[in-house]
Amino acid sequence: MRRRTLQYLGLLFVAVVAIHLYFFSPSSESDSPHLSDWDNIDEILAPEPQRGLSADPHRRDAIVASFQYAWSAYERDAMGSDEYHPISHRGTNLSHSGGIGYTVVDAIDTMLLMGLHQEYSRASDWVRNSLSFDRDGRNKVFNTFETTIRVLGGLLSAHHLSSDDMYLRHAVDLADRMLPAFDTPSGIPFTSIDLAARAGIPDAANHISTAEATTLQLEFRDLAQLTKNSDYWYKAEKVMSVVNDALLPNHLAPISMDANGGSFLQSDIRLGSRGDSYYEYLLKQYLQTASSILNHQLILIPHMCSQDQTERVYLKMYEDAMQGIHDNLVQKTATKKLTYIAELQPRGGEWRTNWLLHHKQDHLVCFLAGSLMLGATTTGARVRGTVSVPPRMEELTKAGQRDWKTGVELLEGCMATHQTATGLSPEIVQFQPSPDQPERDWYIKGSKPGGPASYDARYMLRPETVESLFLAWRLTGDKRYRDYAWGIFESIEKHCRLPDGGYATVLDVDTVPVRHDDKQETFFLVGSAFSLLHVMHIPTSETLKYLFLVFADEAVLPLDGYVLNTEAHPLPIFRPSIQPLFTL
Ligand SMILES: *[C@@H]1O[C@H](CO)[C@@H](O)[C@H](O)[C@H]1NC(C)=O
Repeated sequence: MRRRTLQYLGLLFVAVVAIHLYFFSPSSESDSPHLSDWDNIDEILAPEPQRGLSADPHRRDAIVASFQYAWSAYERDAMGSDEYHPISHRGTNLSHSGGIGYTVVDAIDTMLLMGLHQEYSRASDWVRNSLSFDRDGRNKVFNTFETTIRVLGGLLSAHHLSSDDMYLRHAVDLADRMLPAFDTPSGIPFTSIDLAARAGIPDAANHISTAEATTLQLEFRDLAQLTKNSDYWYKAEKVMSVVNDALLPNHLAPISMDANGGSFLQSDIRLGSRGDSYYEYLLKQYLQTASSILNHQLILIPHMCSQDQTERVYLKMYEDAMQGIHDNLVQKTATKKLTYIAELQPRGGEWRTNWLLHHKQDHLVCFLAGSLMLGATTTGARVRGTVSVPPRMEELTKAGQRDWKTGVELLEGCMATHQTATGLSPEIVQFQPSPDQPERDWYIKGSKPGGPASYDARYMLRPETVESLFLAWRLTGDKRYRDYAWGIFESIEKHCRLPDGGYATVLDVDTVPVRHDDKQETFFLVGSAFSLLHVMHIPTSETLKYLFLVFADEAVLPLDGYVLNTEAHPLPIFRPSIQPLFTL
């Protein structure tokens, strides 16, 4: 039934788009509604339900209230600072000469999606009056990847959702300061950037993690499309062609690269830290330019039509990578048959073909569940046309069916890691029989009753599982995913919420009552630059955005009109006006 309706809506939609394109220039920003007309905001951001998946207003509003609780503590204690320490009630900046809007810019599109007018108005005033990227880099440099996904991505999505050019002007200023990061012999970027001096800064050996180098493209491509400046496109795109040339015979990417030579270093292969978003952005780069008829103001596109998808090189890289993951990394536990994604460690010698399997999974890996499901219903759709909600297996290719099944099962595996004393999942899980409890087929390393909390045992308000639950909900309409998401939300409320405002990291998910951590400081203590990746600076901002989207009407953010960057900043799907150079 639903399929018929979608087909009908699809035809209707194509007609509407055709009429729209005929009468209006497809990219004319001036036609778009302006958020400064507050009268319109509800219409723009929360249109009437147009498809089957409507809001659960009660739960949605509870999540909005939690975001306001987190934001108001930050605003009270640390407004404008890059980082927030909710227990000591203070902010800190990445640079001694002032912040670069890490937290404020990151939260703006959440406010827009949630319809929080007052918070939005104060945050946008801060951007207007206080945001500057002319920050002294002598003492602190900025991480190229983090600055891109959080600040550039945040500015771009704020611009798209509000149509306010102020954000675009800031995005251009930031990106121009960042372009020198790509000036290495290979084109693989420097890991850090001095924004004031406009210079890339290598780490000691000019190494960079693969995820850092390959998780900049959605943002720079979007900016290129908006400004018609192809420099942004080609610098980011070059990285992908260098990586493609360096890939291993199994089509997977080790987690470390040499930015001078553009080759992989002998290092692990994993879908967790330092590897994860390489795979995420292969799919999303392909989807970003997926439609020939899209104008981002018209956000209801019922079909993903394979013929409209322009950059087949990413399709091939993505399909090869998913094959490599299935051939090498997908595992099941012995007892409960839980699906997880293992890691490979190089054995030395001919390391490129000589690997040891390691049964460890970072929480970060849980992004892959939803990503596989999204891939299955787009790149894995058998024919041009409708994929049902939920998809019927005959609508998917063989690879699509395989990916769908793995995605669904991996998500169940990730949910199984929430079966802890707090209902929260640990940072790292070992999927093997527990040394102490052989009947239990996963355990947390180093976490012993009464002993010190291990790094692996903490819950840092990470978003990956709820991100996958969001995609699973949208692609199936199956209420179980809403129930899972609500369970996680309740655990966060119970164990992470601080009485004086804000939310904090839980040090050991398997011990109640919990102990909290003042967040960022611990990350600095850990010492490695890479441990800084994916830290949330308003704890929960991204997590609460995905939770909100699970319970909001799907028209608030239709999946087939947007790709979400790895920090959950929505960017519209478009037909590129710049000719890609990296092609099959
Ligand atoms: C961080 O920088 C911002 C912007 O310059 C400023 O508003 C804020 O007060 C600074 N925070 C701290 C703790 O110095």
